[in-house]
Amino acid sequence: MNKKSVSKIVRHLPRDPTRLLDYLWAIQRAKGFISPLDIFELAKLLKIDESRIKEVITFYHFFFDKPHGEFSIFLDQSIIAKHAGIDLIEKVFEEALGVKSGQMTDDWQFGLYKTSCIGMSDQAPAALINMIPFVNLTTDKVLTLITCLKRGDELLKLQKDLDCVPQNTVHQSLVTQDQWDQDITSLHTQILNPQDIIQEIISSGLRGRGGAGFPTGKKWQLCRQYPGPRVVVCNADEGEPGTFKDRYLLTEHATKLFYGMAIAAKAIESQEAYLYLRAEYTYLLDHLHFVLTKLQRDPLIRQIKWRIQLGAGAYVVGEESALLESLEGKRGEPRLRPPFPVEKGYLGKPTIVNNVETFVLVSKVLEKGFESFRKWGTDQSAGVRWLSISGDVSKPGLYEVPWGIRLREVLELCGAQSPLMIQVGGPSGECINATILSELERKLSFEDLPTGGSFMVFSKERDIFTILQNFMQFFVDESCGNCTPCRAGNVVLNNQLKKVVDGHGRPQDLMSLTQWSHVVMKTSRCGLGMSSPRVITTSMKAFPEIYQHKIDSSKSSLIFDFDEQKATSDYDKIFGENHE
Ligand SMILES: Cc1cc2nc3c(=O)[nH]c(=O)nc-3n(C[C@H](O)[C@H](O)[C@H](O)COP(=O)(O)O)c2cc1C
Ligand code: SF4
Repeated sequence: MNKKSVSKIVRHLPRDPTRLLDYLWAIQRAKGFISPLDIFELAKLLKIDESRIKEVITFYHFFFDKPHGEFSIFLDQSIIAKHAGIDLIEKVFEEALGVKSGQMTDDWQFGLYKTSCIGMSDQAPAALINMIPFVNLTTDKVLTLITCLKRGDELLKLQKDLDCVPQNTVHQSLVTQDQWDQDITSLHTQILNPQDIIQEIISSGLRGRGGAGFPTGKKWQLCRQYPGPRVVVCNADEGEPGTFKDRYLLTEHATKLFYGMAIAAKAIESQEAYLYLRAEYTYLLDHLHFVLTKLQRDPLIRQIKWRIQLGAGAYVVGEESALLESLEGKRGEPRLRPPFPVEKGYLGKPTIVNNVETFVLVSKVLEKGFESFRKWGTDQSAGVRWLSISGDVSKPGLYEVPWGIRLREVLELCGAQSPLMIQVGGPSGECINATILSELERKLSFEDLPTGGSFMVFSKERDIFTILQNFMQFFVDESCGNCTPCRAGNVVLNNQLKKVVDGHGRPQDLMSLTQWSHVVMKTSRCGLGMSSPRVITTSMKAFPEIYQHKIDSSKSSLIFDFDEQKATSDYDKIFGENHE
């Protein structure tokens, strides 16, 4: 074990508690895990309480306070990975290493663990080894990998040798097909004053691409109303299962992204910009620093104080207020709102948080003008958007499509194979029955079917309940536990779903699933709990017959005496009998 003192390991970092995640990463990289002694030393160094450090370590999936193996292997548990064979890959690892998932080998060389979607659904099954992605895994690759690691081969070299380097497969490109002119974008930004920039973005009709679709220009306008200093933050947390479009944009269009952030900084008169990168994309960190350094020649970029903050694994941190907490070096728990970040964001300063794709599009708008952007899309959903398409399709990958495209057209583009179900927008999005022709005429747009970019296709070979249970388990695992409706409610929903799936459901269980869904949606603090029950509600609407079939063929002969009305009477008092 590395005996270096904490102060030596972190000497390159400023003495700033908001950088706590960076400190913890540095210590963990050097020592393998963060010991009680490390915590003690770090607390002294940063002049903060040890408990503050402990609560941060325990919040994030990828910080360890105990030995975790010289090589920590994390297997992607998304439904796409499951369908692509991650369970078989897990068995191969288990047999080759002689451990079960969740354990470490006796010599502490390998640890085998599970994790949520790692953003590689176009290249499943995939795993992270010491945060380096290994994609398109096969039995042979795993066996070779273990042999090579045991004899001391270098991890990054192995990734290349085994053909495990993530690729960005782009199948359709509308806006990005014409060359983007960096100099023109920079020039236009310098000529325009802040209010003109905001007007240009408002006129373009650009709405946020992170999911909620808030009008970008309006957000910036609101932020300007509050006295500075103001802050620009890019949300590159991309945790929604099945989404990987930001991974692509960060890889291929980082220059546009940084310009988009610089344009936003000029618009709100800010000198501080932060890019929050999910831990699963650690491998992109050097590339992003390289691009940013190269851009320092442009005064537009140079006048800003930049920081790229690496996350540490937590889906909920994608929620903007949780992201700000994490950026401040804390547990990534959502804040109570209002106040919204535009008023009180990073360290209490007025802050705009925008998605990676939103900033990339801002660069395009400033280059070509708002009319050119408005040419694409629909009335309420201007422009184009990137879809991450995965599942039972012949061409998984990235698709740049205009808003307003019909589901049928998307299925044709990606070569869907006898589709049964489409999950638009990830588990928190909407479940669509692909065998109903009228459903396929629906349009991806804020007017009809909004999406944060995830587009998963499931063929008739797939079992819908297996998919739904995977989604519900994801929310159970990722709830931060701060509020009871989400922490307990998702467990209840998961258990009730299991009861129905296992053939023990009774007619009132379907009613109960609906009621609990409404309670969780209406009483949760943040978007995670507000949307997780959509797994149940939208699938019940899309496939009522599969639920009914489970009830009709129920094996349950038990009549429970449980008085559901009495048990939920408190909720009824608060929300009214119908929960609508
Ligand atoms: C649980 C949860 C996870 C989220 N994850 C992300 C994410 O990974 N990336 C993102 O841009 N927005 C995510 N959001 C939405 C953000 O809160 C926020 O609306 C968005 O970053 C704003 O950027 P935009 O206006 O450009 O879309 C998430 C929201 C919730 C509730
Ligand atoms: S809704 Fe869930 S994730 Fe959001 S604050 Fe409450 S417990 Fe945490």
